[in-house]
Amino acid sequence: MRIDRWRGHAIAAAALLMAATLPAAAQDAATIAAQGNGKGAAPCQTCHTPDGGGQASGGFPRLAGENAAYLQAQLDAFASGTRDNPVMKLQASALTEAERKALAIYFSRMPAVATPDAAGTTPFADPEHLGETLATRGRWSKQVPACVQCHGPGGVGVGADFPPLAGQSANYLAAQLKAFRSGSRHNDPMGLMRNISHSLSDRDIDAVAHWFAAQPFPPKESRP
Ligand code: HEC
Ligand code: HEC
Repeated sequence: MRIDRWRGHAIAAAALLMAATLPAAAQDAATIAAQGNGKGAAPCQTCHTPDGGGQASGGFPRLAGENAAYLQAQLDAFASGTRDNPVMKLQASALTEAERKALAIYFSRMPAVATPDAAGTTPFADPEHLGETLATRGRWSKQVPACVQCHGPGGVGVGADFPPLAGQSANYLAAQLKAFRSGSRHNDPMGLMRNISHSLSDRDIDAVAHWFAAQPFPPKESRP
């Protein structure tokens, strides 16, 4: 009897200790990322890779080290349809709000990495430095500000509002610019990216996407 009571306390204490070191939400997020949630959401890492770095060829973005509030806003946008993507709509709609939040935090805490071969396996020919010019100076004749004014120097990202573009695959970045331009992605605050993308040609988009994909991420200064 006394031993049973002691064991009961010991188990309760062990459970408390585990809860203190590994919050339930974090456990759930790691499980969903690796195995799915058993309710229609597939394992995130199948496409976004176990280290969260993404895959350039499939257009699967890096999630590792991105801002948690930004990631959560994107999952909500896929679910509500303000960001129209059939693959991610399926995933996001199968997650509860709490799961979306937990996954956003989980991926944001992974060490930041660049997507492997982000700029593609064959060099992109840009002899006139169109990509770099758009990124760092913009095109004022068409009211296109320099991308780095919002996305930070080298496209490293600024806070929750301006996602990093550096080291994100050219495939993915170009797809997003085209999605803003066509309006299938219309979750950007004040239509900022829709306005800018309307003034960009396909060639502009490919050039600027390749330039940002080739920028170092995480930026050199922030490496330990
Ligand atoms: C079958 C492949 C696949 C699976 C599985 C998948 N994703 Fe995605 N994910 C994509 C694709 C493709 C995109 C880009 C969509 C677009 O072009 O708008 C994306 C985009 C995202 C984005 C937006 C990132 C950004 O920078 O804006 C987030 C966040 C995300 N996925 C989270 C998740 C989470 C969390 C899971 C697991 C529950 C998951 N994904 C499972 C393919 C997948
Ligand atoms: C006035 C500020 C501003 C400027 C200038 C700007 N952006 Fe953005 N951009 C944003 C915001 C805000 C978002 C996030 C939208 C959201 O919340 O979904 C964004 C998102 C993006 C995304 C999607 C990233 C992802 O992870 O899905 C791409 C790609 C992008 N911008 C490229 C560019 C390029 C290229 C330029 C320059 C030609 C540029 N941006 C200039 C504000 C700006």
